[in-house]
Amino acid sequence: MPPSVFVIFGATGDLTHRKLIPAALSLFEKGRLPEIFAIVGVARKDMTTEEFRSSLEASAKQFKKHFSAASWKRFSQLIHYFKNDFDTEGSYPEMKLFMEKIDQEYGTAGNRVLYLATMPRHFENIINLMKRYDCIKRTKDRTYRIVIEKPFGTDLKSATDLNEKLSALFHEKEIFRIDHYLGKETVQNLFALRFANRIFEPVWNSKHIDNVQITVAESLGVEGRGGYYDGYGATKDMIQNHLLQILSIFAMEPPKEFESEAIKDKKVALLTKIKLDSYQLGQYNGYAQEPGVAPGTKTETYSAVKLHIDTPRWKGTPFYLRTGKKLARKASEIVVRFKDCEYNLFDVKSNVLVIRLQPDEGIYLRFNAKEPGTDFKITEVSMDFCHECLFPINTPEAYEKLIFDAFSNDRSLFSRWDEVASAWKLVDRIDKSKPVIYEQGSWGPPSFDDMTWREPL
Ligand code: BG6
Repeated sequence: MPPSVFVIFGATGDLTHRKLIPAALSLFEKGRLPEIFAIVGVARKDMTTEEFRSSLEASAKQFKKHFSAASWKRFSQLIHYFKNDFDTEGSYPEMKLFMEKIDQEYGTAGNRVLYLATMPRHFENIINLMKRYDCIKRTKDRTYRIVIEKPFGTDLKSATDLNEKLSALFHEKEIFRIDHYLGKETVQNLFALRFANRIFEPVWNSKHIDNVQITVAESLGVEGRGGYYDGYGATKDMIQNHLLQILSIFAMEPPKEFESEAIKDKKVALLTKIKLDSYQLGQYNGYAQEPGVAPGTKTETYSAVKLHIDTPRWKGTPFYLRTGKKLARKASEIVVRFKDCEYNLFDVKSNVLVIRLQPDEGIYLRFNAKEPGTDFKITEVSMDFCHECLFPINTPEAYEKLIFDAFSNDRSLFSRWDEVASAWKLVDRIDKSKPVIYEQGSWGPPSFDDMTWREPL
């Protein structure tokens, strides 16, 4: 890996504290960051580098699995802070000089991995002002990469504008649109499940699959992020990215090879064939009183959509996606319900394959077996694969994997522009103004279109 400065915009925010710094520290401990390396945190707060370091230390203790004071001591020496108002022009020439000083001090040779972890409304300004003040100084040896958090835009139009601004400063191969669900082991395992097993692929179609339900349920609410969340809601915050990414890997055609662009081509081909049938939005009771949320808000904290995919493989199989906050439990899973047996010999339940994304990661298959005894009675049993029982240690956190990939220049698990655009085209068709109220701790509004959600275990 070339020497590099990791520049985090939004360095005092939640994401940096909970995820980015613990992940970078973990990579540092494993020797998986560039040997010559420094971090510059950029944010609006007035604070010194020392204050910044100690605030990060407190969060690393809280959010990293194993905290070692000795490695923190070495790691923290690489961290610096620069105050920038994001939108104030004057800060950019100064920031450029600051980075050059860091290059001289550490030998990072002008290479940057820039990470936009601010509120999304600052993205465009940061990009425009970096361009105006020549913060990206290309020479033939320098490497630049930009990692940009989701949501990428608020609809197709704003996403297209943002993409144009980005493309004026960076090449597509330097842009890493992050969706941290793609860094989750269980989401990556979908590739192995489908394409490394003869037993699943032949039944992965509407001849055998009756319907698919994808749930990403959270028990937490907006947790102090009301100011951001109220402008987006569950559909833009979760369906547009995480859930459609899961669906596209679940349902895509096999790629020619296991390679970034080949996979993305198939994902896009799938995304462009998804049609919206119906949807249902909800808002948890009490959301309107959360800090940062507008009075009388119509923002949805629950979103469920029914889709179908217009391809020969999926003709006739409905796909249901739902996500929400303040639901009964944190549980993300894909439930694949198979069709009834072709031989009508027994009155039994249909087979179900559950891919449990988090927590209690694993896969289980419900099928029918004869109950021991003199009568011929059939009962439902299951085969279980528990991820943690088999692979108990060293499973990297999603952000750890993705930060490592950004430094290694591997874009496989990042979204290409046409994936993002196709997802917005679909989501733009949802009228997000009429959520129904649901109780906190419930499973959200009652089902729609006569379907029954399978309650996560
Ligand atoms: C983020 C959303 O992308 O994902 C949050 O902005 C959500 O609203 C979070 O809580 C869920 O991520 P995870 O990894 O905890 O399932």
